[in-house]
Amino acid sequence: MASKKISKLKTSPDGSSGAINIGISEKDRAAIAAGLSGLLADTYTLYLTTHNFHWNVTGPMFNSLHAMFMAQYTELWTAVDPIAERIRSLGHVAPGSYAQFAQLSSLPDAPAQPPKALDMVRILVEGHEGAARTARALFALVDKASDEPSADLLTQRLTVHEQTAWMLRSLLDE
Ligand SMILES: [Fe+2]
Repeated sequence: MASKKISKLKTSPDGSSGAINIGISEKDRAAIAAGLSGLLADTYTLYLTTHNFHWNVTGPMFNSLHAMFMAQYTELWTAVDPIAERIRSLGHVAPGSYAQFAQLSSLPDAPAQPPKALDMVRILVEGHEGAARTARALFALVDKASDEPSADLLTQRLTVHEQTAWMLRSLLDE
């Protein structure tokens, strides 16, 4: 068995060798990565809940909600990658387990028993609003650190979450 060699060059929080010098302090990079980890957990949790509802929705609105949820979970699934990779670019480890996501997410897990169709819609409105709040709470820090790529990413996520919340909310009007 080969002996395990521990690198003496270990200088980054993610365990990679080599210092990061992109003009954002180590403290700010850590804080932004932590905030983005919360957004990643919210996004993944909302993705899974939306896919769950795509599978389990019933009732007269089945066709339209089944298709709408598919478009939404596909968008959320695509969104997790750039968030995780921004965390990596800041020199930190991207969380990627159900246990970590459950701990980091501001959103509840999907209910074990499928709710009625309009209750699904209500849960998803709350999920998109919660993810928007998580993204928005990071803006002050990202601005202060002149972290434009993270600001750009947050802007894109806020646009999607607020627009999707509006579309879902519109279904609840009498
Ligand atoms: Fe499907």
